[in-house]
Amino acid sequence: MNPGDVRTAGVVGCGIMGSGIVEVCAKAGMRVVFVEATDQLVSRGQGAVERSMAKAVERGKLAESSRDEALGRITGSTSFEDLAEADLVIEAVTEDPGAKRDVFHKLDELTRSEVILASNTSSIPIVELASVTKRPDKVVGMHFFNPPPVMPLLEVVRALTTSDETVEFARGMGDRLGKTTVLSRDRAGFIVNYLLVPYLNFAAQMYEEGFASAEDIDTAIKLGLSHPMGPLTLLDFIGIDTAVHVAEVLYEEFKEPLFAPPAILKRMVSAGWLGRKSGRGFYEYDR
Ligand code: 3HC
Repeated sequence: MNPGDVRTAGVVGCGIMGSGIVEVCAKAGMRVVFVEATDQLVSRGQGAVERSMAKAVERGKLAESSRDEALGRITGSTSFEDLAEADLVIEAVTEDPGAKRDVFHKLDELTRSEVILASNTSSIPIVELASVTKRPDKVVGMHFFNPPPVMPLLEVVRALTTSDETVEFARGMGDRLGKTTVLSRDRAGFIVNYLLVPYLNFAAQMYEEGFASAEDIDTAIKLGLSHPMGPLTLLDFIGIDTAVHVAEVLYEEFKEPLFAPPAILKRMVSAGWLGRKSGRGFYEYDR
């Protein structure tokens, strides 16, 4: 199948990343069916998409009529069976290998055998997900960046088992979604997180050692390197728990100390200081 022939995209999980992927697919003209575990999570996911699109309209990035059309193409469900008609499925559930393997097993049973199954994982080997299916050549990584409607990059990840056709499809799908794609091998961190994690770890350590204040570390990077956010603001934005998890996966794979999550991040997780989503991280937030 060509990316242009995809009429219905399935998305599993409608949290921060899943809801952004739903929005991006709907805006690209596809019907989107997303699956969440409970009715409450379906409503929460739908609400997240609506708020993000309202922001896009407010900022002049999306016409109201296009917003309404895109919203009209989205259906939320608690039933995997509703993905049976999908021409492509992108999985974006929590970074738990067991949960992801279950999803891939179900998707393999439910979808047509030619349908490509993609994962938005940032840390789990794609080949592990491919191996629970009867179509390992059609399983690929499609790693979006937070927030997916705004960030222009898509990392396409080729597992040992992924075919050239599947890689080509994923890159073509990235074009259709308005993203620039880069291709990475299936190793922890892919391209971006491999470089990002040591940088964020060092920033957290600098702060802990009293090298400079959080504000000054962030201001230095924002104004000195023209980054949209300094590293500590970015850690709060990503979520301290997620950042620790990704760092642990990289450390596990490469055993390089620079990937090991610094103690301060682990203590913050224990304290429930998870960043923006919990109202407190390096900074405090209104919730
Ligand atoms: N829809 C469409 N466009 C939107 C939008 C929305 N919902 N929200 C914001 N935008 C647009 C704005 O219009 C603006 O566009 P412009 O430059 O053409 O005017 C642009 O996004 C930036 O907006 P603002 O400058 O007003 O600042 P915001 O506070 O709204 O931006 C941000 C927020 C886009 C998150 C910006 O701060 C940013 O880019 N931060 C860095 C994010 C980042 O690094 N993400 C990657 C995280 S790592 C990751 O995801 C990997 C994982 O595996 C860990």
